[in-house]
Amino acid sequence: MIEKKSFVNTMDSFASGFAAVDGTGDACSFVTYLDLIHSMPFFQECKRQSYRKLGIRPGASVLEIGCGNGVDAIILAGMTGPEGRVTGIDVSSTMLASARTRDCTGIPSPHYVLCDASYLAFSDDMFDAARADRVLQHTTDPATVVREMARVTRPTGKIVVFEPDWETFALWPGEREVTRRILNFWCDRIPSGWAGRSLYGAFRTAGLSEVSAEPMNLVITNLPLARKIFDLETTVSLAVGAGIVSSRETETWSDAQVLADEAGQFFSSLTFYMVTGTKRG
Ligand SMILES: C[S@@+](CC[C@H](N)C(=O)[O-])C[C@H]1O[C@@H](n2cnc3c(N)ncnc32)[C@H](O)[C@@H]1O
Repeated sequence: MIEKKSFVNTMDSFASGFAAVDGTGDACSFVTYLDLIHSMPFFQECKRQSYRKLGIRPGASVLEIGCGNGVDAIILAGMTGPEGRVTGIDVSSTMLASARTRDCTGIPSPHYVLCDASYLAFSDDMFDAARADRVLQHTTDPATVVREMARVTRPTGKIVVFEPDWETFALWPGEREVTRRILNFWCDRIPSGWAGRSLYGAFRTAGLSEVSAEPMNLVITNLPLARKIFDLETTVSLAVGAGIVSSRETETWSDAQVLADEAGQFFSSLTFYMVTGTKRG
């Protein structure tokens, strides 16, 4: 039995909403969404690799850009220990409020600052390392954020950024032309849907050395999970509202995915890039 979707949704999608969570009218759903991401093995492994690449030692001072609900900042604070200091910044006061109330028993509390990643309120060379995880896609100019991260990191310190490239988003099944229209609409609603592919050049332009870019691929073959992670229903609803696709086209598109899911054949994937660089000594 195919579940019919009405494709009427007035909510902002996770595509554009993360740029200004406090103004969405439903900030709590963005906090909950981050908890779902943190529960997924793919993201847990990517995060572990990013912590390792920062080369953190006890006593280090680390900047976490776009810290969201504080999960990574607390893990980093456990790594830097009582002599270290982790500073998490975010443009959303709802996210920072959630981070401040998160349990960090036995771990030094991170220090949280309301701040835009494009204009970091810190002096030059202040941190031993800086990290950003799925944040620069929500800014209009990822290169500016990378330049700011490089400015506030001390010479020889590491910078690690992890971002998706939304034009690598693939879904199957679905009529090819309709799929392209919906996925391009999704990509173009994100302030920097091409953040992933732009990072290598941004790191080089910022004067960083030892720059490496590693692709990491997320595959989701469970339609209900894909709908949540990729916010498919909201996106499709917004695409209908914008005249990109018709309701009839999206119903056919969605039905094909439901049938494929029931047969164990649904497929979706997205490539992220983890880019690492060192500030020159
Ligand atoms: C997808 S969430 C990722 C949060 C966190 N890094 C994580 O991995 O759970 C994006 C975060 O970036 C924040 N953000 C968006 N634009 C920002 C900006 N210009 N400066 C600082 N933070 C920003 C959002 O408020 C949100 O908390």
